[in-house]
Amino acid sequence: MDKNSYIGVFDSGIGGLTVAKEIMENLPNENIVYFGDTAHVPYGSRSKRQITQYVLSDVKFLSRFEIKAVVIACNTADSVAREAVEEAYPQLPVFGVVAPASRMAAEKSKNGRIGVIATKATVASKAYDRAIAAIAPEAVVLSKACPLLVPLVENGRFQPGDPVTQMVIREYLEPLVQDGIDTLILGCTHYPLLMDIIRECYPDLQLISSSEAAADTLRKSLEKDDMLSDNEGGQHRFFVSDDAAGVEDVARLFMRRELNSSIEQVTVE
Ligand code: DGL
Repeated sequence: MDKNSYIGVFDSGIGGLTVAKEIMENLPNENIVYFGDTAHVPYGSRSKRQITQYVLSDVKFLSRFEIKAVVIACNTADSVAREAVEEAYPQLPVFGVVAPASRMAAEKSKNGRIGVIATKATVASKAYDRAIAAIAPEAVVLSKACPLLVPLVENGRFQPGDPVTQMVIREYLEPLVQDGIDTLILGCTHYPLLMDIIRECYPDLQLISSSEAAADTLRKSLEKDDMLSDNEGGQHRFFVSDDAAGVEDVARLFMRRELNSSIEQVTVE
């Protein structure tokens, strides 16, 4: 496989740009193709069968490019449909968010009580429970589905001090904090944007961004396999499955900067 091929990154929508951003910052020479399935977002409230079907067509789209690895940026997709991707593409290195974040949390937690916040589908899949148990069998995992957080972030309500978001965060997190967690996995593409506001509410919690953890694992693996690109600066391409108009504003929110190329709309089956 060519070192300078693309890394394919996909998500149910635009939130996965929090993962793409970390990859771009960690690996500035990599060519990256990003696909957001905006025609079908959100995945987090859907069935396993439906999510798997969407995920397989996401990877099918990315494989139109010459890709050296695929990154499942969506926590829901990684939790529910990773095995289906590995089965359908046995030659393709598949990276995700769940295992890296679980490893980082297990390393950082001092008391072995780890909280996970995520979508309904991610929590129901118990993927984080299994991944953490495989690394730290004695750890206790306390999970909470937080369906109100994605819409709050998408509506820009992540500024520190936002009273509505603070109230929602306290409502979701208080039981986990009362149960003694010292570490919290932000198990959803959107939640890294809530880091400051969660810190405001719970300054003592150790926060693990699944987006940051995913990029770190990808970099280490490419280094180990001598598969880092030797380009001088990577090329980035962005695609979505629904109307691209207006998406750039949301994309800027997640990337916290301008994209360096435009977003194109594609049809996927
Ligand atoms: N990308 C999803 C995740 O990380 C959140 C949005 C959705 O429900 O599709 O779980």
